[in-house]
Amino acid sequence: VVSASGFTWSGASKVLAERPRDVNSNKGKFGHVLVVGGCYGKAGAPAMASLACLRAGAGLVTAAVPKSILDSVARIAPELMMAPLAEGAKGEVSFKNLDGAKLDALVAKISVVAVGPGLSTEGDAPAFARQIVEKTGVPVVIDADALNAFAGKTELLNGEGRVMVLTPHPGEMARLAGMTVREVEADRVGLARRFATTHKLTLVLKGWRTLIAHPDGSIAVNTSGNPAMAKGGSGDILTGIVAAMLAQFPKDVARAVETAVYLHGLAADFAARAMDEHTVLATDTVTHLSDAFRYRV
Ligand code: APR
Ligand code: MG
Repeated sequence: VVSASGFTWSGASKVLAERPRDVNSNKGKFGHVLVVGGCYGKAGAPAMASLACLRAGAGLVTAAVPKSILDSVARIAPELMMAPLAEGAKGEVSFKNLDGAKLDALVAKISVVAVGPGLSTEGDAPAFARQIVEKTGVPVVIDADALNAFAGKTELLNGEGRVMVLTPHPGEMARLAGMTVREVEADRVGLARRFATTHKLTLVLKGWRTLIAHPDGSIAVNTSGNPAMAKGGSGDILTGIVAAMLAQFPKDVARAVETAVYLHGLAADFAARAMDEHTVLATDTVTHLSDAFRYRV
């Protein structure tokens, strides 16, 4: 990662090297992440985000998903806790039987929320995503269909006084900004900076050389990663890693996000070296996260 603020990988490396887990620490110290998403047919997305989140060091991870996919999401890791959500006609999350009090209970005692992977755009799903973002004051990572839920409603995206991280790919960015993908790609830096400063949030604009735009307008460019990542699931993995880093380093948001993006790409670089850039699966990147965490420059 190279940034205007002087961030380098040795900086990201420091996040891990200077702050090893205290010998007398317990899981409470590393946060409780709630992953909200999934629909019938897209169980893998919240499962992969949750797996990556566990692997990247979060203390506890709970996945809140529609009932019909709960068992299949749970199978990704026995360490994962599950919260069943009611569902609508197409297997998407629904407000059925979920009043404000239950929504409050869902996000209580949570330190970071990651919303969006596999969420769907059907029925109540978009409104559900917006409610979750509004209900919780804790750091929130907004990805995939949760980003689509804010398209045309970007005035609701306000990171003032809280931590809000958006992780759009160019297509999601285009929908959010009301532009074409071509327009997004023509001025990635300018657009990312404008969006981040206007809405006072951290914007991770994905793709080759992912950009991280901070609320103060500073920009980092990621240097890790490879075409093995151009496969379904890669983005879901990143969402889990970002949430895990925010849970562990809540006071150092800029570094937490930059470190997450760098580690994600670096893990994929290790995976491509151990395997082949054609054969690497997003879940293989999770396996190689250990290599990325142990790497020091
Ligand atoms: N070089 C480096 N990094 C890459 C490359 C590349 N050539 N290609 C992809 N990546 C990285 C991106 O930077 C990002 O971190 O892989 C990740 C891809 O994320 P997404 O585009 O969100 O892809 P994915 O997880 O497959 O999304 C699946 O979710 O976002 C929704 O609707 C979307 O159908 C899509 C689904
Ligand atoms: Mg994605």
